[in-house]
Amino acid sequence: MASLRCILLLSVISIFFLLSADGISTVPQHSNDSKVTMMFSNSSQPNAPAKTPSSNNDVTHYLLVLQWPPSVCNSVKYSGKICNTPIPQDFKLHGLWPQGKAGSLLDCVPSAANKFNTIEVFKVTKLATVWPQLFKGENKPSIENVNFWRHEWDKHGACSGLNPVDYFKKAVNLYDTLKLKLLLENYNVQPGNMYAPRPDIIDVLPRKQKPKVTCGVNIKGQFQIQELSFNVTAAADNIQPITLAIKVSDCPNRGYNPVGFPN
Ligand SMILES: *[C@@H]1O[C@H](CO)[C@@H](O)[C@H](O)[C@H]1NC(C)=O
Ligand SMILES: *[C@@H]1O[C@H](CO)[C@@H](O)[C@H](O)[C@H]1NC(C)=O
Ligand SMILES: *[C@@H]1O[C@H](CO)[C@@H](O)[C@H](O)[C@H]1NC(C)=O
Repeated sequence: MASLRCILLLSVISIFFLLSADGISTVPQHSNDSKVTMMFSNSSQPNAPAKTPSSNNDVTHYLLVLQWPPSVCNSVKYSGKICNTPIPQDFKLHGLWPQGKAGSLLDCVPSAANKFNTIEVFKVTKLATVWPQLFKGENKPSIENVNFWRHEWDKHGACSGLNPVDYFKKAVNLYDTLKLKLLLENYNVQPGNMYAPRPDIIDVLPRKQKPKVTCGVNIKGQFQIQELSFNVTAAADNIQPITLAIKVSDCPNRGYNPVGFPN
């Protein structure tokens, strides 16, 4: 009798997993990591990461967008916001944005299998270090981070075809591989000086790591380097050359005037 019950239970469990792997099942899985759940007032039911990512046939490549915190934090665009201190003196992730033939893939609907999962994403190593919410919010920084990641997942990541854990892990790996601050230092680009995006930055970097440079404006009205974006393969596992002509965005004189790189 006991073994029959055991077999029945096992088959019910395996049917559940078969269904949920296809994203058909909407049965919530209950985790009992109550300590972590308590940290987030409104976390959704945690799901195990999907075993196989859903199709990402639409993704042709990604943009890996890194922001320079000192520029973001003194940007006139965000003058109503206050950054957590100390302001990081290293590039931080802004996003990993799936691109399709028609441009950015946005606001995709996550399937049941790839819904944002606070508990699992929170455990991704180094995510809080490389992808922090720079601005202070109503909640403590760890929760503001999760809100930022959830926003980026809902707006961009859900279009990747990856599950949230893989998506964020890949972003961390790309960040680690690029080592952007060090890379720039190797080409004598260091904070505290002024550079013309072209030729000082874009033209000196190796072909594979050529960035698109986005400028911002500080509260004194001076232009500064705010973001560098890189082209990433459709599998989100490697940087690849930028092939489009657009190399700068919002920089004066098409990038040929020196702008700040503040510390
Ligand atoms: C989770 O654990 C708590 C106590 O640690 C218990 O009260 C609760 O019923 C458990 N929930 C589930 C879904 O197992
Ligand atoms: C929790 O989420 C629900 C549904 O998503 C929403 O209606 C509610 O306002 C949220 N509560 C808090 C405290 O954020
Ligand atoms: C990135 O690389 C792909 C080739 O895989 C290319 O089609 C795309 O235009 C590139 N993106 C940019 C911004 O250059």
